[in-house]
Amino acid sequence: MSSLRVKPAKAFDQQIDTIAPDKSISHRCAIFSLLSDKPSTVRNYLDAEDTRNTLEIVKKLGAVVEEEADFMKITPPASLSEPAEILDCGNSGTAIRLFMGFLASRPGFYVLFGDKYLASRPMRRVADPLRRIGADIDGRENGNLAPISVRGAEALKGYVYESPIASAQVKSAMILAALNATEPSLYREPHLSRDHSERMLRGMGAQIKERDGAIEIHPVTAPLEPLDITVPADPSSGFFFAVAAAIVPGSRVVLKNLSLNDTRIEAYKVLQKMGAKIEFVLHEEKYEPIGDIVVAYAPLHGVTVHENIAWLIDELPALSIAMALAEGKSVVQNAKELRVKESDRISSVVENLRLCGVEVEEFEDGYAITGGKMHAATIDSHGDHRVAMSFAVAGLVCGMAIEDTDCIMTSFPNFTALLSKLSEVQYGD
Ligand code: S3P
Repeated sequence: MSSLRVKPAKAFDQQIDTIAPDKSISHRCAIFSLLSDKPSTVRNYLDAEDTRNTLEIVKKLGAVVEEEADFMKITPPASLSEPAEILDCGNSGTAIRLFMGFLASRPGFYVLFGDKYLASRPMRRVADPLRRIGADIDGRENGNLAPISVRGAEALKGYVYESPIASAQVKSAMILAALNATEPSLYREPHLSRDHSERMLRGMGAQIKERDGAIEIHPVTAPLEPLDITVPADPSSGFFFAVAAAIVPGSRVVLKNLSLNDTRIEAYKVLQKMGAKIEFVLHEEKYEPIGDIVVAYAPLHGVTVHENIAWLIDELPALSIAMALAEGKSVVQNAKELRVKESDRISSVVENLRLCGVEVEEFEDGYAITGGKMHAATIDSHGDHRVAMSFAVAGLVCGMAIEDTDCIMTSFPNFTALLSKLSEVQYGD
């Protein structure tokens, strides 16, 4: 199990064009390519553990993946193979939940499983609505915990479903099921969650329409068009370096070619509200708006975050570092979903901030941080990539030792290489 030590940094001015490609979009590229009968072309696919696992699953289902120097060709099988092996989703909630929705209406028997962290995350949020439309899904605790078995049906029933949570994983699983249903479906969520699935599937020719604040999904009658896509850089990976520039006095960073999708850049807007100087520069729009984000240091002040939570849920651990170093009190509320991420992120953020001498109050759905200063400590990542990277960034101000950092490989393999351009980073076992 590896560890990292990060030393305080001097002011920096960097342009970064190698932020990891978007994880959400990469997973979808691999899975959605199975909906066409022609090869999809994917440039800049995320080469990290989570998305590699998804690609391996797609291969086990019969796709042929050819990796060239600067693109990947994914040729779907004429019909899916029924794999003789279990399908390993590793650490990825996105992979397991999207595959549940996809495989539920593909005749065959499939077993999805993952690492010890994934094995404790809730799956009934997907299993239950799928079962209601005829899916045959099971797992430990009545289908809630992996391993998950799926006996794929010929087709599922259409549905009207009001999701109790704004979750793109649940929405995407239900959209994938609806594409193979016997009649149109209507999916409604309490707030818009990230909408990559809708954008990409529409781009492939699927009939997915807005209707009274819900989405109407029409079953596909023929294979979809293939994807021809360049995956933008991941705004949630870029955000670690946005926070870095916002907390190291005199610093500035230009993050190149990120998705500027509104459902993904809310944390940058909160950082801007806290006082950081931030500019968004749109360059192009294909499937997604894509451009650069420029972040420059300015003294930060506390902020309250209680809305649009689904749009910044992944960035809250990194935002908590900015909050701990800002003047005054910051509050995060309505973020109970943090408790079912790669770790219980409310408890792992609160515990580690306290180790750094920060005054933090814990709520069931968030926390309150009294900011101003933090000191070096030895951090336990709890096997959670975003917790590990957030506290590594805090090390740029006060020094930090982080234990259990292998998890960084799930989403951002070149994170430490980029961090070591800003300061001295030592690796340990
Ligand atoms: C994701 C959706 C979000 C997010 C996760 C990726 C996706 O999860 O936290 O990192 O790619 O659909 P939920 O759908 O559970 O909110």
